[in-house]
Amino acid sequence: MAEDNARANWGSKLGFILAAAGSAVGLGAIWKFPYVAGKNGGGAFLIAYLVCVFTLGIALLLAEMVIGRTANRSATTAYRDLKGALWPWAGRLSVLCVFIILSYYCVVGGWTVAYIWRSITGEAITSETAALATAFETFIASPTQALSYTAIFLGITVAVVFAGVQQGIERMSKVLMPALFFLMLLLIGRALTLPGAIEGVRYFITPDWSKLTSAMLVDALGLAFFSLSIGGGIIIAYGSYVSRDTKLVGATLWVSTLATLACVLAGLMVLPAVFAFHVDPAAGPGLTFITMPAIFAQMPAGQWFAVAFFVLLLFAALTSSISILEPIVSFLIDEFRMKRHPATLLVAITSFILGIPAALSFGPMSHLTLFGKSPFDLMDYVASNIMMPAGGLLAALFVGWAIWPRVRDELAAEGAGPILPAFRFICAIVAPILIGVIWYHNL
Ligand code: ALA
Repeated sequence: MAEDNARANWGSKLGFILAAAGSAVGLGAIWKFPYVAGKNGGGAFLIAYLVCVFTLGIALLLAEMVIGRTANRSATTAYRDLKGALWPWAGRLSVLCVFIILSYYCVVGGWTVAYIWRSITGEAITSETAALATAFETFIASPTQALSYTAIFLGITVAVVFAGVQQGIERMSKVLMPALFFLMLLLIGRALTLPGAIEGVRYFITPDWSKLTSAMLVDALGLAFFSLSIGGGIIIAYGSYVSRDTKLVGATLWVSTLATLACVLAGLMVLPAVFAFHVDPAAGPGLTFITMPAIFAQMPAGQWFAVAFFVLLLFAALTSSISILEPIVSFLIDEFRMKRHPATLLVAITSFILGIPAALSFGPMSHLTLFGKSPFDLMDYVASNIMMPAGGLLAALFVGWAIWPRVRDELAAEGAGPILPAFRFICAIVAPILIGVIWYHNL
C-alpha cells in the first residue's frame, strides 16, 4: 500500500483481502462481541447480529469497496470526485467517526499490551475470577497505567506505519490470523469441557426473544458495522488501493465470513467460561480480560497459552488500528496535501488527547457521565452505534441512487452481473428502511 503520498496498489489480490480481513478481525470480535452478546442475553443477540451482517453488512462492505476503487481516493475526496454537492460531508462524517474510534480503540489495545506483560509475569493467571475482576478493575482505574498503555499501543501503531512495514504486517497475518483462529478453537475446547460450561453454550445459541428490544437491535447493528470495519470510510480508503483485476464480490465474502467467524468463535470461547466460573455475563467491557485468564489457569502450560493469546490479540488489534488510522491520514493527504508522516503524527497526538477521557473513564473520570454513560461508553456508543450506521447508510444511498450506473458497470465488468439487482435493492431500499426503523424505535 502507499507509504508516501503517491497512490499505490496492494501487492496482490490476496494482499487486499488480508488487509481488509485484518482490519475487520480485531478487538471488535474478541473483546467487544462477547461482552455485548453477554449484556444482550446471548442467543437473540447472536441472531440479530448475523442478520445485520448477512443483509446490510455484506452489501455495505461491497459498497464501500466499490466507492474506494472507482474513485481511487479516500472517502471525502471520493464522494466529491464521484458526485460532489453535499456528498463530501458523508466523507467528513466518516473521518470524524473513525477518529473517535481510534481514540478509545487504543485504550483497549493498551489493555491487551498490559495483559501480555501480566501473562509473562504470571500475575494474570488464576481461576479466582473475583480476584481477576478486582485486578482488572484496579488496573483500568489507574490513570498512569491506563494512559501509558494507551500511549504504548498508539506508539506501536504509529511505529508500524512509519517503518513502512505495513505490507509486511499484512503478509504476516497470513500466518498469524490462522494461528489466532486455531488458538481460539483450542481454547473453546478447554472452555467447553469446564463444568457448567454447557449453560454458557445454551445462553449463546438459544434465542430468548424477550431480549429482543430496540436497544439490543441498535447494539447488533453497531457491532455488525464495527466488526466489519464499515461506515467509517476504512474500506473506502483500503478499496482505493485495489487494482481492477481484484474481484470485489469474492473479497467481500472472504472478509465478512472471517469477521463473523471470529465473533462467533470468541462468543463460544468466552461465554461458556463465563458460566463455568460464575461471572455475570453482563459484566461489561472487562468480560474477555476477566474470563480468559481463568481458562488459562485450567490448562497445562496455561501461562504460555496466555502469552500467545494476548500477543495474537495484539497483532489482530494492530492490523485494525492501522486501518482505523488510514482514512484519517488519507483525508489529510487528499484534502490538505499533507505528507504521510506528519499527518500520521498529527492524528496520533490528537487522538491520544481525545482518548484521555476514555482512558480515565474507569478511574478518575468515572463519575463523569452523560446520558448515563461514561466518556468511554459514550464514545463507543456514538461512534459505533450511530455514526458507523449513519456512514454506512450514506454509502448505501450513494451507491444505490447517486452513482448506480457507474457502480453497475464497474461490478458487471468483473462478472458480478447476477447479484447486481439484489445488491442495489439492499443499498437503495433495505438499508435505509432497516436502519431507519431500528433508529426510530430506539430514539
Ligand atoms: N473491525 C475492527 C475491529 O473489530 C474495528 O476490531
